[in-house]
Amino acid sequence: MALNFTLSPALMPEDIVVVQATDSMWLAPAQPEEERYIRGAVEKRKREFRAGRNAAREALAKLGFKGNPVIRKDQRRRPLWPAGTVGSITHTDGLCIAVAALGERYQGVGIDAERSTALSEGLRAKICTVDELAWAGAQSRQTHIDWHKVLFCTKEAVFKLLNPVYCQEMAFRDINVSPVGPGSCSFSARVSASRFPKSIDIIGRYHITNEYIVCATWLIRQHTGAQAQSAHEV
Ligand SMILES: CC(C)(COP(=O)(O)OP(=O)(O)OC[C@H]1O[C@@H](n2cnc3c(N)ncnc32)[C@H](O)[C@@H]1OP(=O)(O)O)[C@@H](O)C(=O)NCCC(=O)NCCS
Repeated sequence: MALNFTLSPALMPEDIVVVQATDSMWLAPAQPEEERYIRGAVEKRKREFRAGRNAAREALAKLGFKGNPVIRKDQRRRPLWPAGTVGSITHTDGLCIAVAALGERYQGVGIDAERSTALSEGLRAKICTVDELAWAGAQSRQTHIDWHKVLFCTKEAVFKLLNPVYCQEMAFRDINVSPVGPGSCSFSARVSASRFPKSIDIIGRYHITNEYIVCATWLIRQHTGAQAQSAHEV
């Protein structure tokens, strides 16, 4: 169903399973317990939800978690991954991707996909720092990509990674993204809000085509010091 898009295998480290939903995943029902969440929803929402849940199950199976686990959600719409795993789901206009990894290795993962259209002026100012506005403006003049939109997609992915791990909201302007450069397809990010540890060092990659922007991030678990409280434990 995706327009002209095959996800780069280099998007995430090899031990993170990435699944792009197939046509049948968009069409097949989710687990009965999951279907309860979309009872009464419009068809578009049903399809994207099912694609996300079915792709997530495939990712978990590839990780070794067979037996069709149910992926519930919490009151904030966050997917609740089976114990011992972390994951993330995104869907936009015909493209759906789920990623899953082992919790002993990763504290969290985040993925976001957007259409490669320009971000509105209003949103640019709302989500970008002054430095990011200058950087994205300069990059956008040199390429056919709107780099403000890439930053938006990156920050959505970082939000999806951090929100379940720390159970904290964040303003997008508090997420500071440092793209390594258009050529390398990599970025690093830090969160300046004081309620997040200063030491959080997020890395990620993006994959950009004329149709879609996909950003993926991951946080490797540090086995020293206190662990962040997991959303699954609250
Ligand atoms: C929740 C949010 C990240 C969803 O992103 P989106 O681009 O709208 O939609 P996507 O399709 O990429 O992702 C949706 C999936 O993310 C997951 N998700 C939802 N809330 C989540 C959260 N708080 N943390 C992690 N994952 C979440 C769900 O799996 C959802 O799909 P599902 O409902 O079918 O299970 C986004 O709407 C949001 O709230 N962003 C942060 C808020 C913010 O400050 N935005 C500022 C913009 S100016």
